[in-house]
Amino acid sequence: MSIINSTNDAQIAGLSANHKIEEGLPLKKAMITVNNLRKVYKLGSEKVIALDNINITIGEGEICCILGTSGSGKSTLLNMLAGLEKPTRGQVLIGKHDIARMDETALAKFRQKYVGFVFQSYNLLSALTALENVSMPLMFRGVSKGKRNKAAKHMLKNVGLGNRYEHKPSQMSGGQQQRVGIARAFVSKPRIVFADEPTGNLDTKTTIEVMELMVQMSRENNQTLIIVTHDPEIAEYADRILTLIDGKVVSDVYNDSIAFKGVHAARAAAAEEATAEELAAKNAAQAAAQEEKE
Ligand SMILES: Nc1ncnc2c1ncn2[C@@H]1O[C@H](COP(=O)(O)OP(=O)(O)OP(=O)(O)O)[C@@H](O)[C@H]1O
Ligand SMILES: [Mg+2]
Repeated sequence: MSIINSTNDAQIAGLSANHKIEEGLPLKKAMITVNNLRKVYKLGSEKVIALDNINITIGEGEICCILGTSGSGKSTLLNMLAGLEKPTRGQVLIGKHDIARMDETALAKFRQKYVGFVFQSYNLLSALTALENVSMPLMFRGVSKGKRNKAAKHMLKNVGLGNRYEHKPSQMSGGQQQRVGIARAFVSKPRIVFADEPTGNLDTKTTIEVMELMVQMSRENNQTLIIVTHDPEIAEYADRILTLIDGKVVSDVYNDSIAFKGVHAARAAAAEEATAEELAAKNAAQAAAQEEKE
C-alpha cells in the first residue's frame, strides 16, 4: 500500500519547508487501518458531519500527528481510532481486529491490553501518589504488586521523577503531572499511545520536554504514537502529519527527519535562552527591591 500525497500538501498544512513529500512511500506493518470512516452527530434536527470518508493506514512504530483547527474533527477521529466512540459508518482495524464492531466489554479489555492515553488535563487520580497512578494500568492487567512497583519506579525514573514517588498530583507542577501521565501511558508497553493536546496546558520549555519524552519512549519500543494538536510546531515532532479540515483529511505529509532534528535543537536552545533571560530579569528585580528596602 502507498501513501497518497499531493505536491502542495505541505503548503496546505501550513508547514515549513522542512517537510519532504515522499511519493508512494511503502508502509511499515500496518497498525491502524481506517476505511470509509464517517461520523455524524445528530442534535435534534441538526446534523454535524464530524468526519467524512476518512481512509488512512498508520504503520507500526509511526509517530503520527493529527493537525487541525478547533472543530475540524481531531478528537472525534482519535476517539474512533481508540474505540472510545462508535463510527456512523466505516471500519477501524487495529492489527486485524475491527474495533468498530466490538462490544463495550471486549473494547475495554482490548484497550487495557493494547492502548495507552495521555490527556491535556493529565487525568491523574488525585487521591493516589505518582507511583500508584503509574502502577494502575498494571494492576488492571493483573501484575503482582512487587512487579508493578518495580516497573512504575523504573518509568518514573525515566521521566525524571525518581524523587517524586510519594507526591500526589496536587503536590506537583503541571509539567511533572504530565510526565506522570506519560509514565502511566507507557508503563504497560501498549502497542499504541494516543495523546489529545498533551501539551495544551504547558509552557514552551515544558512542552519541548514532554514532546521529546513521548517521542523517545515510543521509539524505544517501536510503539505507534498518535498526537492530536492544533499547533504546527508540535506537529513537527511527528514522522507524519495528517491535516484535517471540516472532518476531511486534506493533506498527508512525512517529515524530513534531518531538518526536523535541526528545528528542535534550535527551538530547545531558544527556550533555554528565554528561561535564562527570565531568570536574569527576576534576579535583577529582586536585587532592585532589596536595594529599595535597604
Ligand atoms: N458529542 C457531540 N455531539 C454533537 N456534536 C459533536 C460532538 N462531539 C463533537 N461534535 C462536533 O463535531 C465537530 C468536531 O469536533 P471535535 O471535538 O472532533 O473537534 P476538534 O478538532 O477536536 O476541536 P478542538 O481543537 O476544539 O478540540 C465539531 O463541529 C463539534 O461541534
Ligand atoms: Mg479536540
